[in-house]
Amino acid sequence: MRVCVIGTGYVGLVTGACLAHIGHHVICVDNNEEKVKLMKAGQSPIFEPGLSEIMTGAMQAGTLEFTTDIGGGVAHGEILFIAVGTPPLPTGESDTRYVEAVARSIGAHLDGGYKVIVNKSTVPIGSGDWVRMIVLDGIVERQKVLVGAGGGEVTTLESVPAFDVVSNPEFLREGCAVYDTFNPDRIVLGGSSSKAIAMMQELYAPIIERQYAEDKSLPPVPVLATDISSAEMIKYAANAFLATKISFINEVANICDRVGADVTQVAKGIGLDSRIGNKFLQAGIGWGGSCFPKDVSALIHTADDYGYDTHLLKAAVSVNQRQRLIAVEKLQQVLKILKGKTVGLLGLTFKPDTDDMRDAPALNLIEHLNRLGAKVKAYDPIVAQSGMRHGLTGVLVETDPERLADGCDALVLVTDWQQFRNLDYNKMASLMTNPVMIDGRNYLDREALQQAGFYYVGVGR
Ligand code: NAD
Ligand code: UDX
Repeated sequence: MRVCVIGTGYVGLVTGACLAHIGHHVICVDNNEEKVKLMKAGQSPIFEPGLSEIMTGAMQAGTLEFTTDIGGGVAHGEILFIAVGTPPLPTGESDTRYVEAVARSIGAHLDGGYKVIVNKSTVPIGSGDWVRMIVLDGIVERQKVLVGAGGGEVTTLESVPAFDVVSNPEFLREGCAVYDTFNPDRIVLGGSSSKAIAMMQELYAPIIERQYAEDKSLPPVPVLATDISSAEMIKYAANAFLATKISFINEVANICDRVGADVTQVAKGIGLDSRIGNKFLQAGIGWGGSCFPKDVSALIHTADDYGYDTHLLKAAVSVNQRQRLIAVEKLQQVLKILKGKTVGLLGLTFKPDTDDMRDAPALNLIEHLNRLGAKVKAYDPIVAQSGMRHGLTGVLVETDPERLADGCDALVLVTDWQQFRNLDYNKMASLMTNPVMIDGRNYLDREALQQAGFYYVGVGR
């Protein structure tokens, strides 16, 4: 099928590249010229395992193209994905201006045959109808320009190009985005047009039938076809549930710390109950990233707009805010005064295998430690590898773990990068003023660290 993906960030680029990999002809559009230049040269602007290989293969096969020309993309696609960002506004609600700009632009370029416009971005409930309205506005504006230039008649409803809007929320996780795209737990399609839903099912058929799955013997991927508002709500509810589950185990961890229980054992024990499940029960320094914080806030905001004061969701957020600074509390318990001390952060990104720093707990830690007068250094494999700095302030970014350890009074494991399991902790301890390890993800081998001479502190154990 002919596909156009507008917005080539974590979601758009992965979606575009994976759809091209399974044989669709995909044009990816972005208004960031630098990004498009990079992608045209076969390079991924983001770090995502397996993505570069998929991109290169599809580009060589001629199924994946990149452009800044939205008009060309819209003309090409029978299915048009909107995959631009919906970042949080200071109020907590979602900033939909990029979606609006793209929807208007689609309208301005819509011509010819029937098209399905897909909301892949996470958008507030009710956005399906709103996008439809903006697209129609775009069509009318274009017609006015054409009429003004003596190009034709004023648009009547009958002459509007045919299109439908479908909500198709994305559930991929950064760091395993390609895997998640080929191995989804479900595909959600919201819309009232059976023609549009059928086209979406055709688009995803190879994935639904597990042709690209790790385990091809699994039954087909469940497809939930529902109304647009429910599809939009599913996305928010899923993220809010997972974030709440983590806040729950973090709260349990804080109680464990006080009563002398081990939260990793508790998580194992409750996770064996199939009604609870063992996933998303890793206690630590809290959830971050580009989705959980903004989507939970947006859902709270939507509820507020409709006169419902959420209690559970607000509590999940407040537990998380406190949890992000749990490492500071633990540092104070061990080192007492932090002013004049040097703290080294192992990891900066909000989770491993991504270069994304959006709403990373490390940012709060850096700010708070600076405020308390501590000097902060950090080492992160992706930051070291790509040389990117994300405009980080208040932190000295080191190029390897041993330089990080040198002269530190304590280390804090912030991100559970796999390579942190196998560092030379004997050497690192010997380079530190004070070998203290706050394991913010309960990720390291406590005994091994203790043998290396570290005073080890976990979260809830
Ligand atoms: P992103 O910020 O990484 O990428 C957005 C892209 O859109 C950028 O490349 C930007 O240049 C481009 N863009 C902005 N305005 C444009 C325009 N007018 N025309 C063309 N391109 C434009 O965002 P993301 O992380 O990929 O998220 C996209 C959406 O998907 C968001 O709504 C997000 O909530 C949702 N989502 C994200 C994830 C995730 O893990 N990142 C997972 C599920 C859903
Ligand atoms: C999340 C959702 O999982 C995904 O379905 C959605 O599409 C986008 O948002 P992502 O943000 O990429 O994905 O990462 P995820 O693996 O969910 O982790 C989010 C945060 O929770 C990270 O900061 C992670 O460290 C933290 N986390 C996760 C925990 O603290 N404990 C856990 O048990 C799991």
